[in-house]
Amino acid sequence: MPTLVEIAHENCNLDEGSLEHLNSLLSEWGMLADFCFADMLLYLPTTSSQFIVAAQVRAATGQTLYDTDLVGVVADPFERQIIDEAYKKQKVSIGEIKVETISEPVNLMAIPVRYEDRIIAVLTREWSQRSGRKPGQLERTYLAIFEVFAKMISTGLFPFAGRGADATVAPRVGDGVVVLDADTRVRYASPNAVSAMHRVGISANAVGQTLAELGIAETAARHAFERFEPVVEEFEQTVDVTLLTRTIPTLKRTGQRVSVTGGVVLLRDVSELRRRDRLLLTKDATIREIHHRVKNNLQTISSLLRLQVRRLKSEEAISAITESVRRIRTIALVHETLSREAGEDISFIEIVRPLLRLVEEGLQSADRPVKFNVFGDGGRLPATIATPLSVVILELLQNAVDHGFPEGSKGGSVVVSLGRTAENQLAVKVIDNGRGLKPDFDMTKVTGLGLSIVRTLVTTELAGTIQYRAARVEDSTKELKIAADGEGTVVDLVIPVSGD
Ligand SMILES: Nc1ncnc2c1ncn2[C@@H]1O[C@H](COP(=O)(O)OP(=O)(O)O)[C@@H](O)[C@H]1O
Ligand SMILES: [Mg+2]
Repeated sequence: MPTLVEIAHENCNLDEGSLEHLNSLLSEWGMLADFCFADMLLYLPTTSSQFIVAAQVRAATGQTLYDTDLVGVVADPFERQIIDEAYKKQKVSIGEIKVETISEPVNLMAIPVRYEDRIIAVLTREWSQRSGRKPGQLERTYLAIFEVFAKMISTGLFPFAGRGADATVAPRVGDGVVVLDADTRVRYASPNAVSAMHRVGISANAVGQTLAELGIAETAARHAFERFEPVVEEFEQTVDVTLLTRTIPTLKRTGQRVSVTGGVVLLRDVSELRRRDRLLLTKDATIREIHHRVKNNLQTISSLLRLQVRRLKSEEAISAITESVRRIRTIALVHETLSREAGEDISFIEIVRPLLRLVEEGLQSADRPVKFNVFGDGGRLPATIATPLSVVILELLQNAVDHGFPEGSKGGSVVVSLGRTAENQLAVKVIDNGRGLKPDFDMTKVTGLGLSIVRTLVTTELAGTIQYRAARVEDSTKELKIAADGEGTVVDLVIPVSGD
């Protein structure tokens, strides 16, 4: 469907200011349609002396006459006569038109839209007696409000110039309407408004009382009346009752002077919404707190194991438990990161960096220094992937250090690179320029605990693939030099990441 601006550019001769004025009108006219219980169309004068429909809105409070979309349709001669009259005489004109699909005549009210010193468009209200309601007090009041806004539109006072407080979050007519006079005295309150007020503890008959007398903060109304513009405000009426209001001043022009005649307050009880917001916030905080506690517990376990290590004599036992401590600390690291995040996924690089430090810490010998580097980032990962993957990377780093640079070697570099494949799978590479794999190395036959853990996690929990190969000269980077083919080791991991 073409936009107002597109229609205007193609058919009309309207300047930027006019288009902006019309666009603000469109952001407000849902309310107007609701107040007049009818369909509304916005007609623009075309360069070929026609009128073309640039936008259409239906009322939430009444039935529509038009099932079809009328945007882009040109006014027929009957419509054009009424619209043209409003356009030329610069005042509201009313008449009857014939609509093919409706047997009885349709009423058309044409309201000239003024911007600065000229009429730039015509707004129409279209209704038939059939769809008109039996007028009760609500209907009569709403129609009277509509007439006031129609007058404001034709005198250039509506929509409001400047910041027209965001109407998208504002309450709608159906939520509740209070009509005020210029002293913020209530002239009318719709049944929904009365109910909303009841919930905030205002059970007295509101009509005839000022907002202040009713115990409703009147600052919003005061601001709206002083600044000649709508004000949206949320009131925490009591601890668990929240009212969202939008106060729209009604204005009148007498000669050059503009004065406030009163206002319309749309109000809505948003207590339930706000209560849910708060619940969500606390749920989030609770999850973070739990991650924090899990991290603390894991740290306690690793401390206990370290105490145990100090009493051991057997080298084998010492290194087995030391390795376990590192694995536990790796998982603790993931929980620590999650405890700082709002959701259940984390920026993976935030785990890889401290992971490198963890492996670095375990290296004591100064005679074979190993440098660690990380490239890329890998994006955000859910905790269900980040946790096993961290353990896998830890083992790979540990093996690069243990087997790439064993005692007696001169040290070197280890690089972790993170990225995404063309299919947006996570690609992790761990490269070292150490001694390289033994000629008979076969990943599927290795019985060490480290690679067993890696294989199990990669194939089951991560549903990914892993490959070992000898490094080649072209694997070299600025930080990691492979002097000859077969010198170091490259481990390639590809992990599918669901959800993206
Ligand atoms: N980066 C590497 N460079 C050379 N050899 C490696 C590398 N990674 C793994 N290996 C080989 O794979 C074997 C299995 O490793 P792993 O299962 O972790 O057991 P462990 O580390 O206890 O020996 C190692 O003993 C080693 O021979
Ligand atoms: Mg190992």
